[in-house]
Amino acid sequence: MANLWSGRFEKGMESIVEEFNASIFFDKRLYDCDIEGSIAHVTMLSEQGIVTFDEKERIIQELGNIKSQIEKGEIEFDVHDEDIHMAIEGILINRLGDTGKRLHTARSRNDQVAVDTRLYVKKEIIEVLENLKFMESVLLEKADKYFDKIMVGFTHMQHAQPVTIGFHLMAYFQMFKRDIERFMDSYERTDYNPLGSCALAGTTIPINRHRTSELLGFKNVTENAMDSVSDRDYILEFMSAASICIMHISRMAEEFVYWNSQEFSYISIDDSFCTGSSIMPQKKNPDMAELLRGKTGRVYGNLVQLLTVMKGTPLAYNKDFQEDKEGLFDTVDTLKKSLLILAKMIEKTEFNMENIHKHLNKGFLNATDVAEYFVKNNIPFREAHEMVGKMVKYCENYSKDFSDLSDEELKTIDERLNLNLLPDLSMEGCVRGRVSYGGTAPIEVQRQINEGINWLNTLV
Ligand code: ARG
Repeated sequence: MANLWSGRFEKGMESIVEEFNASIFFDKRLYDCDIEGSIAHVTMLSEQGIVTFDEKERIIQELGNIKSQIEKGEIEFDVHDEDIHMAIEGILINRLGDTGKRLHTARSRNDQVAVDTRLYVKKEIIEVLENLKFMESVLLEKADKYFDKIMVGFTHMQHAQPVTIGFHLMAYFQMFKRDIERFMDSYERTDYNPLGSCALAGTTIPINRHRTSELLGFKNVTENAMDSVSDRDYILEFMSAASICIMHISRMAEEFVYWNSQEFSYISIDDSFCTGSSIMPQKKNPDMAELLRGKTGRVYGNLVQLLTVMKGTPLAYNKDFQEDKEGLFDTVDTLKKSLLILAKMIEKTEFNMENIHKHLNKGFLNATDVAEYFVKNNIPFREAHEMVGKMVKYCENYSKDFSDLSDEELKTIDERLNLNLLPDLSMEGCVRGRVSYGGTAPIEVQRQINEGINWLNTLV
């Protein structure tokens, strides 16, 4: 069969060229968006008197048949089809003859692929948001369960201050909240209809682009035909949001890996998320957490790949843009799965409080609290910092804790010190005191959780 564009050609393609040119084996995934776009297009063409009512009806009916046949696996695509747009149109023409040939009136593959990918990105954003919302609900539930359970808070991977587990989990809640906002924001800019931009400059045929927008559920039409067929920034925005989101996933996954290590033993990841070793019988490896970390590479890679594809391409459409799809599909699949796996893994994880407590007496987690207590007793912070620093040094030298120090020892460290000047040194006391807005005090964590619940409820 001749290609749909074969009019001006004298020779066919060599098979390796045909294969190189074709996108059908990956862009067939856009079949439903493509058919949706075509139905809206032909509906508008008929309303405008460009095709007859009868032609429209026949085309829509046949597009419906093609769709269900694709879904049932009854249509086999061929390299000769080139891409999904040509494949579907080709089948239509085969079946409807001249009527089928009218569908592509006032349309080019350039605006067709743009509308298809915009529809696709919009649908996928909604699905990603569903998975993110599930993640948030899981985090809220876990944070609530552990809102007052104390663990070590780190900076530089060194013991810093005590925090609650709920507080730590709510930090991730905030990151994923911003991810949700980023995806919602990118949705807004994707929600413009490029159909009717045609090859690059619009058309002399009296179409109604606002009508196809309405039919396809777009917020509005794109303003400039050349821009509409030339840019892929809506895909880049999706991939950027996805990259940031999977970076958050990866950080949490890394915490699961080290929390699960023998050295920490804060958690024991559920067996169903781990695998064994082929040689070491005792091993239970946190493979899913590691894979979540590792999947980040391809999502970043896809973003950089498309940024590079787009860079330096002149206006308007260039075939380079066909390279936007595989990375997009891969990012969609990877992100959606990663979100689900992490959320389910969190859901199934409980914290081993006994082991977590063992770590709390190392590293003078209450040092800042002592310094702050001195400040409340009118000692300037810099001096308080110095005094506590000396206390730490003394304790390290004599293998003691703050609570082991006697009045005399305190005096030798700094003559202003005495037992009455020391606050409640317990981890509970330290955590309870951090009531500043956004702090780790259980009462404050509870407030953050309630805020989170209210915000999540506004989304549904
Ligand atoms: N398969 C092409 C793509 O994905 C569709 C657009 C082709 N347009 C063209 N003028 N060759 O970009």
